[in-house]
Amino acid sequence: MLETISIIDAPAHVNETVKIGVWLTDKRSSGKIAFLQLRDGTAFFQGVVLKNEVSETVFNTAKRLRQETSFWVTGEIHEDSRSKFGYEIQVAEIEIIGESEDYPITPKDHGVDFLMDHRHLWLRSSRPHAVLTIRNEVIRATYEFFNQEGFTKIDAPILTGSAPEGTTDLFHTEYFDHDAYLSQSGQLYEEAGAMAFGKVFSFGPTFRAEKSKTRRHLIEFWMIEPEMAFMYQEESLAVQEKYVAFLIRNVIDHCQSSLETLGRDPKVLEKYTKTPYPRISYDRAIEMLNEGGMNITWGTDFGSPEETYLADQFEQPVFILNYPKAIKAFYMKPHPTRDDVVICADLLAPEGYGEIIGGSERATDYNYLLEQIKKAGLDPAEYSWYLDLRKYGSVPHSGFGLGLERALTWITGEDHVREAIPFPRLLNRIYP
Ligand code: 4AD
Ligand code: MG
Repeated sequence: MLETISIIDAPAHVNETVKIGVWLTDKRSSGKIAFLQLRDGTAFFQGVVLKNEVSETVFNTAKRLRQETSFWVTGEIHEDSRSKFGYEIQVAEIEIIGESEDYPITPKDHGVDFLMDHRHLWLRSSRPHAVLTIRNEVIRATYEFFNQEGFTKIDAPILTGSAPEGTTDLFHTEYFDHDAYLSQSGQLYEEAGAMAFGKVFSFGPTFRAEKSKTRRHLIEFWMIEPEMAFMYQEESLAVQEKYVAFLIRNVIDHCQSSLETLGRDPKVLEKYTKTPYPRISYDRAIEMLNEGGMNITWGTDFGSPEETYLADQFEQPVFILNYPKAIKAFYMKPHPTRDDVVICADLLAPEGYGEIIGGSERATDYNYLLEQIKKAGLDPAEYSWYLDLRKYGSVPHSGFGLGLERALTWITGEDHVREAIPFPRLLNRIYP
């Protein structure tokens, strides 16, 4: 019986006859030969149809194949040193499965809006395929990392009554007779998890109704949120840099071909596998920005020009520590000797990609936290479960959130965060 294989397994079948289910991405033919560009989801390679070696029917079928027609191809695998993949199939038989006509995404250039309108089809193209292959590797490596570091995955709810990151960008919904919101962050639940399991993490979709139309903002994005009991900021930063370096290492080692498709140089990424990452205070960051002529006053949050300027001063990702209390979330640990800053850190990616991690030590004192909840305009009754964590054996603890798509946009070198998720939800887009 003829073996059915995937394109990716072709190297193990050189000079053997195999059968593969494929789609046609492109085609070139002359009187005597047809070159079929094929894909099957695992890889892209070429099929060669020689008129003198196949029946007239097969050659004619090959010549009239249209883009995205699906078919079974049978033939012998050969090495092909001229191609990127390194192997090709010499076609013997073609058996059409599904016809395709007027496929909208042709090999010519299309505008971004057109491609996004056809995202359900665009996923088949080599560039999105490469980005999403790397996304899969980052997710795989995330689970490997947190498992090997002794973390337990505690899933946070998506429908919640809490607003950890402020009330301005909540997605409101009805929950029978109650109000509910789509989760902005799983953090508060991870804090409960940390008090039960020590080291926990969540990985799930989060939602921000941000009216931001920038290349860094999604309305729906995925976040990895570790939370660790008995842990101070400095140890949390060590976990963060070890995690990010681990992700980069795994992408370099396991995604060579996708990086090559994207034109992302692994030598550039290699620099980011070295730890520790530099750390500077928010105070120092303000000084550096002013020295660089950015003219910014203490207390202001950083926008993308500031983050890019700061990141450009370093070769690796850089931690900015201890931001003003007034611009950070209510749950952050107050500084032991200063009233105006909290114990927190953002990790800024190099090359202008901005903040990829936000994290902090958490406030441990019941009364302080209650006061902060009120100051933030939140209803303490909704947070009474969260306050309980400070009533029964409160301990120092820290955690952080890595935005998957932000990190991935940086790792892949893409210029917009919409490329880093299969079906982006943007300010003006909920289709497809
Ligand atoms: O800095 P943020 O808002 O922090 C939190 O949500 C904390 N509760 C995390 C924690 O400590 N457990 O968001 C964390 C990260 C950001 O650094 C960024 O990478 C990403 O989430 N992020 C977004 N990514 C895409 N689109 C958006 N609109 C994002 N907002 C935040
Ligand atoms: Mg943040």
